[in-house]
Amino acid sequence: MTDPILKVEALEKRFPIKKGLFRKTVGHVHAVDGISFEIKPGQSLGLVGESGCGKSTAVKSLLRLIEPSGGKIIFNGVDVTHQSLDSLRQLRQDLQIIFQDPYSSLNPRLKISRSVGEPMDVFKTCASREERRERIGSLLEKVGLRPEFADRYPHEFSGGQRQRICIARALALNPKVIIGDEPVSALDVSIQAQVINLMKKLQREFSLSYLIISHDLAVVEHMCDWICVMYLGRFVETAADKEMVKNPLHPYTRALLSSVYEPDPAQEHKRTMLEGDVPSPINPPPGCHFHTRCPHKKKVCTKEAPKLKEIVPDHMVACHLYE
Ligand SMILES: Nc1ncnc2c1ncn2[C@@H]1O[C@H](COP(=O)(O)OP(=O)(O)O)[C@@H](O)[C@H]1O
Ligand code: SF4
Ligand SMILES: [Mg+2]
Repeated sequence: MTDPILKVEALEKRFPIKKGLFRKTVGHVHAVDGISFEIKPGQSLGLVGESGCGKSTAVKSLLRLIEPSGGKIIFNGVDVTHQSLDSLRQLRQDLQIIFQDPYSSLNPRLKISRSVGEPMDVFKTCASREERRERIGSLLEKVGLRPEFADRYPHEFSGGQRQRICIARALALNPKVIIGDEPVSALDVSIQAQVINLMKKLQREFSLSYLIISHDLAVVEHMCDWICVMYLGRFVETAADKEMVKNPLHPYTRALLSSVYEPDPAQEHKRTMLEGDVPSPINPPPGCHFHTRCPHKKKVCTKEAPKLKEIVPDHMVACHLYE
């Protein structure tokens, strides 16, 4: 068995809500409520769920860009949960992130060579200016751009090209894991497919592991071999990609799938449409967080939170229907 490159155990993040003159804490936003997962080398895991369910907070917490309120983060066998920020150097090098918006991710005043070369400058990985120039050129080629683009400015590029530049920058330090926080959501659909294909090609070429976050199950299905569906800070279902799409078990996953794919008449009885809004994570509903929108709600659902339980091998679901 290969050891995971990244392992997250019962990760939690609560944001205090402060009010009044003395900024007294009057409550908490339970943004991430105890999620666990692991990614093996070369594997890609997708986190999917509607906007506000806690995906970005989970990623920021595991990168220690914000401090988690609980849980454990183990990177390459090392527990980094409480490492001092100074000693997180290796993590900062091996784990890179690509954000949703390629427009705000690049400083408009800096040439592409400065943006792509920045991580190499910070970590002093190039011995000479010549080596740096060559490395930047080769990174741009790897993402399907011309090395001469290094001398241009971000406004000269389209959204898709800018995201390629951000990917080149993410590759600069030879990371082990790349995290994409909605990496294609800001792009036109035709461009999305190109960027997804590029990321898959790079994954094979550099044996990268991916953690892909998206509100779009179709994106995660294309990019990932494992999917975790998240609702109000918790995982409701986790499985291999094909299993998740062929045999969704949780009413929320079924609703997400119904919104993405054409209905299959043979599976009509399994269709679930999502009604109402996502409840606030300030006071999440008691019991199953999904009960306010679930067409199959039972009495127990409003009182007891269902636990993730393995139903078929490697396929877990948290729902009282399966108990
Ligand atoms: N710094 C913060 N302070 C308070 N609440 C926050 C903060 N960041 C995020 N949240 C809240 O946490 C919840 C999850 O947000 P987020 O992780 O951005 O969701 P997603 O990425 O899935 O859209 C939301 O309700 C959001 O309003
Ligand atoms: S636990 Fe109950 S409310 Fe929650 S998804 Fe299952 S049936 Fe619906
Ligand atoms: Mg987000």
